[in-house]
Amino acid sequence: MKRKLLGALLSTAMVASLVVGCGGKEAAPADTPAETEAPAETEAPADDAADDTAAPAATGGGKIGISMPTQSLERWNRDGAYLDEQFKAAGFETILTFSDDKTDQQVNDIQNMLADGVDMLVIAAIDGNALNTALEGAAEKNIPVISYDRLILNDAASYYVSFDNYTVGKLQGEYIVKALDLENAGDKTYNIEITAGDPADNNATYFYQGAIDAIQPYLDNGALNVVSGQKDFDAVATPGWKTDTALARAQNVLSSYYADGTQLDAWLCSNDSTALGVTQAVTSDYAGSNTVIITGQDGDEANLKNIVDGTQTMTVYKNVSNESIVTLALAKAILAGETIDESLIPSFGIECAFDTESYETSAGNKCPSFLLVPNVITKDNLQDLVDTGLYTMGDDGYLSATK
Ligand code: GAL
Repeated sequence: MKRKLLGALLSTAMVASLVVGCGGKEAAPADTPAETEAPAETEAPADDAADDTAAPAATGGGKIGISMPTQSLERWNRDGAYLDEQFKAAGFETILTFSDDKTDQQVNDIQNMLADGVDMLVIAAIDGNALNTALEGAAEKNIPVISYDRLILNDAASYYVSFDNYTVGKLQGEYIVKALDLENAGDKTYNIEITAGDPADNNATYFYQGAIDAIQPYLDNGALNVVSGQKDFDAVATPGWKTDTALARAQNVLSSYYADGTQLDAWLCSNDSTALGVTQAVTSDYAGSNTVIITGQDGDEANLKNIVDGTQTMTVYKNVSNESIVTLALAKAILAGETIDESLIPSFGIECAFDTESYETSAGNKCPSFLLVPNVITKDNLQDLVDTGLYTMGDDGYLSATK
């Protein structure tokens, strides 16, 4: 019993000596001994039973709260499954929740995890600005928080694991530039429309800006033209990334600006759930005979089918299984009080960049980030997805995800 108390005290001390990366000091380096002296009355126990209350990382044990935003957007079901699988396989107990895209529910889910005594939180925020109550609760308990995929803008978030979100958008914009050969447009003007993501999602503005920066030179020189004039983020954003919202806006744009036979050459969509709506609108409401280039992100099954059928042109694939592997490795390093920097990356076994400049909290503090690498998928390299082992290809040529 006494050994358990010592272990618990050391575990608390170790977590307490951990400080957050975003806005806090660096986590205590691994060689820094826990500063808490065991109380005098605690003696080293006689038995040598395995100490099951040592710092979570030491045993691979401990309890992890995994808070996903929703199950209505396909990828988060995979993220939740991969994260749960990774942490459990590493000996952690997990609590996995999906908050139905309702921020109040996500706050409640996280508070319940804290009440259940989690040692760490892994959170994909519905709204990175709206979790302060829950994050303050985590900070009070010295519970480290990993912002998963979407940055939480509160300083209590310790570190960030995602993909290079700006590059996701850049790849989409560059794809359109290349597919239309805008470098050699001469006097020709190509017409484009844009659909961005959820304004509450910190990622959405990175996707948008990366894409806009790629196509801006061609908007400037007249090779590209946004016929609707709807180019600013607020004008093209899609609350909740909802397919139906993207569909309705695309139908409105097509009826208002393209019913007179104006040709539409490309529609830049920030992700697959919005691309699904835009593709449906173009298929049903666009009268032109040309194929409209439509971009996406995530490798959702319905969109991969559209890519095989030729109604969507590309998606930016992010291997979220790898994202969960990096998250587990980071979590263990944080819990073990290791120094959190690029020196961890070789142990991930996954291509990743350590970035301390691109992401900051609403207080203006930089959030140290591990950013994985996104890839362009078209009908010409669908086999790359099969080769990940995370998709299978049916006899019909369509892909199904294994989770
Ligand atoms: C983003 C995420 C993307 C996109 C969107 C909807 O934050 O990084 O993969 O799909 O949410 O889930």
